[in-house]
Amino acid sequence: MSPGSGLAFRLSRGVLSTIPPPIPRAKAWASAYIPSPGRPLLDMSQGVPGTPPPNVLLDALAKTSSSPSSSGYCHALGEPKLRSAFAQEMRTVYGQNADVTAEDIAFTSGCNMAFVATVMCLADPGDEVILPVPCMSMNLLGIKSVPLYTRSEEGFLPSPDECRRLISPKTKAIAMVTPNNPTGAVYSPALIAEFAELARQNNIPLVLDETYRDFVEHYPPHNLFSETQTEIMDPSWSWRSNFIHLFSFSKSYAFPGHRLGLVAASPDLLQHVTTTLDCLQICAPRPPQLALANSSLLSELRGSIQESAKALRLRHEIFKRSLPAGWTIGSQGGYFAFVKHPFRNVSSLDFCQRLAEELGILVLPIQFFCHELDESQRRALGLAEEGWDRWIRFSVANVDDEKVMRVCERLRECGALFR
Ligand SMILES: Cc1ncc(COP(=O)(O)O)c(C=O)c1O
Repeated sequence: MSPGSGLAFRLSRGVLSTIPPPIPRAKAWASAYIPSPGRPLLDMSQGVPGTPPPNVLLDALAKTSSSPSSSGYCHALGEPKLRSAFAQEMRTVYGQNADVTAEDIAFTSGCNMAFVATVMCLADPGDEVILPVPCMSMNLLGIKSVPLYTRSEEGFLPSPDECRRLISPKTKAIAMVTPNNPTGAVYSPALIAEFAELARQNNIPLVLDETYRDFVEHYPPHNLFSETQTEIMDPSWSWRSNFIHLFSFSKSYAFPGHRLGLVAASPDLLQHVTTTLDCLQICAPRPPQLALANSSLLSELRGSIQESAKALRLRHEIFKRSLPAGWTIGSQGGYFAFVKHPFRNVSSLDFCQRLAEELGILVLPIQFFCHELDESQRRALGLAEEGWDRWIRFSVANVDDEKVMRVCERLRECGALFR
């Protein structure tokens, strides 16, 4: 019997030790707020696109969704036409000398699925994967997340030297997200190359989630796919032996509800990813795959991706300029800004709850991203230092410029609330 529930059976340790989805919890706070026309709820909690997909994409989706030919399963690794078209698109993003072919690509039902299907191929229960904190967990798979602490003074960038010290015989991968969720930190191509080299030296893969890569200013996001490597990399290195790239279509293509993600990796790994994907999803949804495979749609959409990326970067600037004095931005990029509130001795968990309930501003506290660490782990990581618990994630992407300014204006009222 599960204590506290009406269930006559026990629940798995995996699910019980996994953080419940943070967004419904935050939305529950917001439901206590009474909005008015002059003071609506201002929601900067979820990392979702603030605008719908462009009409050309919506039209293509409408066509493929209603076509009888997309109602069947497709190959476990995805539509062959999109695998080829997206390999070409990867060359647009990572440079024409990027060595990525259709055989290196697998489509998944979103990037979370890409991560799970990949990690299931890499690690068994009891194994370890190193991840920078704040981060999400792998408890559901029985795999231990080994936290790599990142510090505000270093812009929340992970240190390869610290990572090296965490590698043990149980380490099966280093997993990273850049631009990061929740901190917004953008890892430079040189830093990514250092982690890839560390992975190579230890015969483990670097798994890089690049869900937000289209929203950074500097291109390409890294050079790992190129035949000409940086001097950091061993000259004999080939990306297929140690690198796994993950991507989500939810942000760049603004259709999270259509659930499309991808894994780019060696066909030798994808052969096994086929097995996990077949168990988890059978195949990725076909209508979005067929829509994107449509003639020149991918290259047509590149322009609108670049426009939204530019608008988002300008919004980050507005946010930075408009934050009240005393609020500190630790890092900013992609969809998020990671900000420390100025009220000492108020943890951001309580702070964000009151912000939602009393001021109608919905944002996520750092505790939602590192709740699994116990006190001693937090101390060991430096997370017990004064003020670590005052960080807050603002999703700059899912509001417009005017709302960003209204949020910052309303934050000025915190002085009266948290005196
Ligand atoms: C880093 C990162 N990866 C993956 C996802 C989920 O992507 P998808 O909607 O494709 O599953 C998110 C979602 O917010 C994310 O922040």
